[in-house]
Amino acid sequence: MLHRTLIRGAAVVLPRETVRTPVLIEEGRIASVGAPAHTRADEVVDADGLHLMPGVIDDQVHFRDPGPTHKEDLRTGSRACAAGGVTSFLEMPNTDPQTVTVEALEAKLALGAQRAVVNYGFYIGATTDNLAELRRASRTPGIKIFIGSSTGNMLVDDQERLEEIFAETTLPITAHCEDETTVRANRAALRPPLTVHDHSRIRDRRAAVTATLRAIDLARRHDHRFHVLHVSTAEEVDILGRQRDGLITAEACPHHLFLDVTDYGRLGTLAQMNPSLKTAGDRAALWRGLHEGAIQIIATDHAPHTLEEKAAPYPASPSGVPAVEVVLPLMLNEVDRGRCTLQDLAAWMCDRPARIWDIVGKGRIEEGFDADLVLVDMAAERAVRNAEQRTKCGWSPWDGTVLTGWPVRTWVGGRTVFAGGRVEREAVGREIVFDHKRGGYRATR
Ligand code: DOR
Repeated sequence: MLHRTLIRGAAVVLPRETVRTPVLIEEGRIASVGAPAHTRADEVVDADGLHLMPGVIDDQVHFRDPGPTHKEDLRTGSRACAAGGVTSFLEMPNTDPQTVTVEALEAKLALGAQRAVVNYGFYIGATTDNLAELRRASRTPGIKIFIGSSTGNMLVDDQERLEEIFAETTLPITAHCEDETTVRANRAALRPPLTVHDHSRIRDRRAAVTATLRAIDLARRHDHRFHVLHVSTAEEVDILGRQRDGLITAEACPHHLFLDVTDYGRLGTLAQMNPSLKTAGDRAALWRGLHEGAIQIIATDHAPHTLEEKAAPYPASPSGVPAVEVVLPLMLNEVDRGRCTLQDLAAWMCDRPARIWDIVGKGRIEEGFDADLVLVDMAAERAVRNAEQRTKCGWSPWDGTVLTGWPVRTWVGGRTVFAGGRVEREAVGREIVFDHKRGGYRATR
């Protein structure tokens, strides 16, 4: 028997406009947008006064599973996603074991099937000697390279190896861009004792710009699709603004959009992440980059570490901040303030991530697409609270920040995974399907 859910009364966020119209879900898919009100449904959701958006697709999270699951695991990370309106995540390979073989990738996919309450996909990581695995892998959004070390010791800095990866693989490539030589020289030039303020001097703007230029050069020469993770500087925005054909894409993270070096005083090592925080001018440039299309999407780089680990004196403190359950409220709050529109959010957080990674059937509220949806209350005003975070690390750099605009209900494949403040316990997420023949953002924008 078909299971039908009718959502009526909501203002539905479509690519070009927001329209008050019913949406019918049938067997996990969107059966119609603008269905007649008399359609017989098993469940009717009255959503007057609320907005219905496509579920958020976060293309950069670290869920620590398998490995340091005391910080997060696929269940807690994906439940945090559900509460935050994130219905699909792409997870990074710096776990333990690292996801650098097809076998490790398949093991992670099996864990996702057991534990994830939202849809899951996993990158395969590059090392200096796993080219054969990178060539063999399918069932993945693409290849992650750490061109610059961060959490997890996965650096690939050698030019010959990088040339080889760009020349001899076909999967899309993405990278952490901070130049290792620059970072090491900056560190050596500072006299101990270091404080967290030095983090932005060590991982400075030159480190980010140098590595991003290097990676773009590789991608251009090999005509290889390439996505720049977590852009942090105005210079990178200018460089990306000159890449007009969609071969190169890029993202900005909430911490770089909402925090800057002046926040170290308040947050200490809770504001330590890689790439480091930059200036208020860089923040403004990232917003400009999003509006002008130099940066196509928003992703969290959700990187949980416990408060105890974060309390270690810098530089022993680990880099990274959690964000999957606050990214949508943070952005809805900007819609409320008039800095962007719901259409901007649907493009930056839903539709374009799906295009960049060739994700099948997701990113838009459209007939035939998967019913990954989030109902948001644009009038709800609430503070972010550490005590309420579902991420296992239990804190947020936005603790105490009052935001207007919150998710109230989330569907994954037509099933409710978050409602009434409660998250589903069962694993109902599905493996995300990638069809790389689509050709990514270049071919579909
Ligand atoms: O700050 C970060 N933390 N940046 C990264 O690229 C990795 C991440 C982590 O895994 O902790």
